[in-house]
Amino acid sequence: MDLSDVHLPGTEDAVLGQHGATGRPLPVFAVPPPLPSHGPARIIALCNQKGGVGKTTTTINLGAALAEYGRKVLLLDFDPQGALSAGLGIGSNDLDVTIYNLLLERGHDIREVIQRSRTSGLDVVPANIDLSAAEVQLVGEVAREQVLARVLRPVLDDYDVILIDCQPSLGLLTVNALTAAHGVLIPLETEYFAMRGVALLIETIEKITDRLNPRLQVDGILPTMYDGRTLHSREVVESVVAHFGDQVLHTVISRTVKFPDATLAAEPITSYASTHPGAAAYRQLARELIARGSAP
Ligand SMILES: Nc1ncnc2c1ncn2[C@@H]1O[C@H](COP(=O)(O)OP(=O)(O)O)[C@@H](O)[C@H]1O
Ligand SMILES: [Mg+2]
Repeated sequence: MDLSDVHLPGTEDAVLGQHGATGRPLPVFAVPPPLPSHGPARIIALCNQKGGVGKTTTTINLGAALAEYGRKVLLLDFDPQGALSAGLGIGSNDLDVTIYNLLLERGHDIREVIQRSRTSGLDVVPANIDLSAAEVQLVGEVAREQVLARVLRPVLDDYDVILIDCQPSLGLLTVNALTAAHGVLIPLETEYFAMRGVALLIETIEKITDRLNPRLQVDGILPTMYDGRTLHSREVVESVVAHFGDQVLHTVISRTVKFPDATLAAEPITSYASTHPGAAAYRQLARELIARGSAP
């Protein structure tokens, strides 16, 4: 059976303003009015040191949904695997200048590296495997945790939102992302044991808030890969809500093959399958973050 044909709780239900998958009464998140002007950007890092939880998928599709609402969005690929770049059809392997060069060499401007995606209002800073060396090379830099913040500074006024797709680790690159960011969004796979790593992540975020970036906020925990047909998924979401309360977003992203399909097509789901519940879910996430003040 094609999962995409199944009614996916937490997506259409959510859009209709009924009880969401989190079991809490679901607010209706209004369609945001267009912005009168653009910038300065609010920077959101998407972090979870576990791989395969939906960081890259969320960065692409949240970014595309915010762009649909007229926000100017910059996506930063901060994972040497380059999955974000590939997922938007940007071949990054042959690029001479990427985020790696911005971090470690003088004399570059981020504007040389930014590429347009095929989605209007959605720009990308690509990465490739070169970035894997940065983790070690940054160690010797002065103010090594603040390098990314400095790299982003020239374009802050050009965007409304900058989303950073972190690699699955809590190393120096992720510390740089959290130091540059205003907020952190934590995608969490609705699987048993998914919460185990979150305590360590929250501890890391608290250390960074104490020592490097007092403005950093947890923008929310986003349950992903939710399968409403299984008791298992529902129980996990319940326990995440019991543990983290209002930090858990109302929006829940269901498991559907349309996401890997869209990645293969190198497109956000919002254009690849515009009317699919998965696209609706990411539009709702965009509206929820705007309603919470996490995005303009
Ligand atoms: N909601 C979802 N349902 C089904 N598959 C998904 C979903 N979100 C992501 N995926 C797929 O799972 C894999 C891992 O997702 P990804 O976003 O790359 O995670 P991460 O960046 O955290 O490693 C990818 O193949 C992606 O297409
Ligand atoms: Mg990823």
